[in-house]
Parts: sequence; structure tokens; C-alpha cells
Amino acid sequence: MTEETNVTNTATEAPLTTIARIGEHEGKTITLRGWLYNLRESGKLLFPIFRDGSGTIQGIVPKAAVAPEVFERIKGLTQESSVIVTGKVRADHRAPGGYELDVENVEVVQRVPEDTPFPISLKEHGTDFLMEHRHLWIRTPRQSAILRIRAEIIKAARDFLDDNGFILTDPPILTPAACEGTSTLFPVEYFGDEAYLTQSGQLYIESTALALGKVYSFGPTFRAEKSKTRRHLTEFWMVEPEWAYAGLDDLMGLAEQFISFIVGRVLTRRAADLKVLGRDVAKLQSIQAPFPRLSYDEAAQMLNDAHAKGLLEHPFEYGNDFGSPDETYISSQFDRPVMVHRYPAAVKAFYMEPDPENSKYALCVDVLAPEGYGEIIGGSQRISSYELLKQRIEDHQLPLEAFQWYLDLRRYGSVPHSGFGMGIERAVAWICGLEHVRETIPFARTLNRIYP
Ligand code: 4AD
Ligand code: MG
Repeated sequence: MTEETNVTNTATEAPLTTIARIGEHEGKTITLRGWLYNLRESGKLLFPIFRDGSGTIQGIVPKAAVAPEVFERIKGLTQESSVIVTGKVRADHRAPGGYELDVENVEVVQRVPEDTPFPISLKEHGTDFLMEHRHLWIRTPRQSAILRIRAEIIKAARDFLDDNGFILTDPPILTPAACEGTSTLFPVEYFGDEAYLTQSGQLYIESTALALGKVYSFGPTFRAEKSKTRRHLTEFWMVEPEWAYAGLDDLMGLAEQFISFIVGRVLTRRAADLKVLGRDVAKLQSIQAPFPRLSYDEAAQMLNDAHAKGLLEHPFEYGNDFGSPDETYISSQFDRPVMVHRYPAAVKAFYMEPDPENSKYALCVDVLAPEGYGEIIGGSQRISSYELLKQRIEDHQLPLEAFQWYLDLRRYGSVPHSGFGMGIERAVAWICGLEHVRETIPFARTLNRIYP
């Protein structure tokens, strides 16, 4: 069924390069290894578009310029056939990447047969169909650009923390207890006991922070989210710094530096990908510390005023956590992320330090991204008193035995300490300007999808 050639026999004189680096070879003949993304034909001219994972480039094949069998071979190519292409690089200011390829030869590694064409043709497809074919959808230029930006965001987050003295410490994935509320736990049978997939590495990195001072974790986290929203996944990746002797103000300073650094990195290193996505980069260029800071009470006041003026449909009920429309309204008032701090302790997690000025509030912060992307960071100062922490565990009806080790951190050299978690997918959605988090991760896990 398939036509294959032996890849190891395809060595040519022309140096192997990638589309991303093609500018280094202007005027020279090079080799690319990739796939056919699209093919247009116009009389005696063929315009194949190749992709190689680093980008796409248009080739030009005039009938007169190549051997007849080469012309026929390219003319017969089907979408996503794998090919090894040789051609001369030519600068062209009209080309999206600035270059075109005068194709000299194409070797077919595997030709996709006509009777089983690549399912994702260049026409529009519905989201369900695309998600069902996610393993193939990621080959399209837009999805590939998103995945490259995701990798850049992760690298930037890690570089920032590494360069600022935070030591990477990996918490376990299988855990005996809840960190972020018992309603979103994924249970796993653990040799006759019940364990859970981690919701956050926080509790564990609090202990590594007391060992190493400044630490972070980066890894997958899990929440059995029963709501279908454009911001929630059941499996997502979180980067979490934790910092001994730091208070809430230190933490907010860290968060704004961290986010500004990441956005700056993407702007400089992934400009071409942002262009593929049609992202308005002016909106990203304004992301620079310091970020506005609002207390929960100030934010609540802002929502009440907005409702009174008819700008917000539903009234905000003081004391609740903010809903999506609330977060969207608050963030729409600023051109950079806004840090909302000191929420009522009652709506936040058990481990948060109460505000010494008014214990009704927690020393916590949520960072809301601009343009309606909602919360990207959640963090807090942690309770350092043994008695208070034990009380909170009991108040939240959490199993005290499972938290004895965590209480030890307050028995032996307890200090004020703070940390936050940033959801990678939320950050990718915002920086890329995407509608939904399902496009921010190679294989999204959501309430009603676990295939492929
Ligand atoms: O606000 P959260 O629940 O905070 C924690 O888990 C803390 N223990 C973190 C810490 O202090 N070390 O989650 C942190 C971030 C959110 O701001 C959001 O970006 C992301 O994780 N997040 C999700 N992302 C995608 N899907 C979900 N279901 C998410 N839940 C949280
Ligand atoms: Mg949160």
C-alpha cells in the first residue's frame, strides 16, 4: 500500500538544515527532511509547501527546471507524505518566513495513499473532529507554533527560577492526601490502600524549601474537575516556586518578575510563531513589572460599581470567590496582569496564613491575566504556627494522620514561607491568545475526553 524508500540511502551533497534556520543558507542548495503540507498547481508550475517541525516553506517547481520524473513525483504528492527535499534557498520578502525554495529534487520516504488521505484537510473542521485526531492535528502550522511556544514558556520559567537561586525538587505524583480540596481528587488503588494523583506539589516543596531555602517543582498535576470550561483540564502542568523566609509582598514581587521574564522571552525567541498565530504582540509588549495590586475588597468594590453601571450582568456577592465573568471584568481594567490579594480566608485553602491585620483575610494572591484569561497564578504565605495549622486541618475535616509529616515542618524550625503555582496551560492560552486550553497541551485531558 505504501511507497517507501530507504532513508539511509538518501544522502546528498547539499547540507541538511531546518526551515527555522534556512536564512543561514541564502543562495545555497540545502536539504530538508519533512512532510508535504500542501500542493498548489498553476500550469507548468508547482507550489509545494513543506513543513519540517520547525516551520513551513513554499517551494517552487517550474516544469522546465527539473527532470520530468521529479516534476511528476512532486505533482503526485499527497498531503503529509514524508519527503526529503533538495533545493536552493531564495530570499523573498513576500514569503511569510522571508524565504522560498527553488526545488531541485524530492525524494519520497512514504507517500500517503489516495484511498486513505490525511484526515485533516485544509478546509475547516469541527473541534470534536480535530480533538479526535489530535495526534495528527498537532502537525498543522498553528498547532505546531503553539507547542513550540509552550516549550519556550516552560524553558523560560525554569531558566528564571534556576538563575534566581531556586533549586528544582520533584514532588511525588502519588500522594496520600489532598492539597487543594477533596472534591477534585483522582483516587488510585495503591496496594489495598487509597492514594490520589497529586493536585499540587506544594506541601512537599514546603518541606524542600525548609531544607534548601528556595525551591521549585515543575510537573503534572491532576484535578477531577467536573466543570466544562475553557480554562480547566483534568491533567495540567504546574510550576511552583516555594521560598523560605518570604512573605506575601516578596511573593508578589517574584510573580511579576517571573511573568514579565517569560513574556519577554517568548517575544524575542518565538516572534515567528506568534505571527503564525496572529497574536497582537503590542498587548504582550506592555507586560512589564510592576503589576497593579488590588485587595479583594477593592476588587469587590470595582465589581459592584460595574454592576451598578450595567457593565456586569450579575451582582457580585461579597465573600465569594470571583467567577469567570468577574475575573474577566477586573482584568479588562488593566493592560497587564493584576494581582488580587487578601481574599476572605473562608474561600481559600486550609494552609494560608491569616492576615495579621485582620484574620478574616488570607495572605494570598491570585494573578489574573489580561484580555479575559483569568487566573494564571495562585499563591500564598503559608501558616507557620503549629497550633493554627493543626486547627485548620481539623476545621477542614482533613485526616490528621496523613498530615503529621506536614505538621513536622511547623515543629522543627518553622519560618514564614510563601509560594505560588502557575498553570502552564493557562499561561500558554493567554500568551498565544487562544480560545480554549485544550490547544495548549499536546493531548488535553478534559471531563469528556481521554482519547487519543
Ligand atoms: O490556585 P491553585 O489551585 O493553587 C495551588 O494549587 C497551590 N497549591 C499552588 C501553590 O501555591 N504552590 O492552582 C494554581 C494554578 C492556577 O492559578 C491555574 O493557573 C492552574 O494552577 N490551574 C489549572 N489549570 C488548568 N486546569 C485546571 N483544572 C487548573 N486548576 C488550577
Ligand atoms: Mg486558585
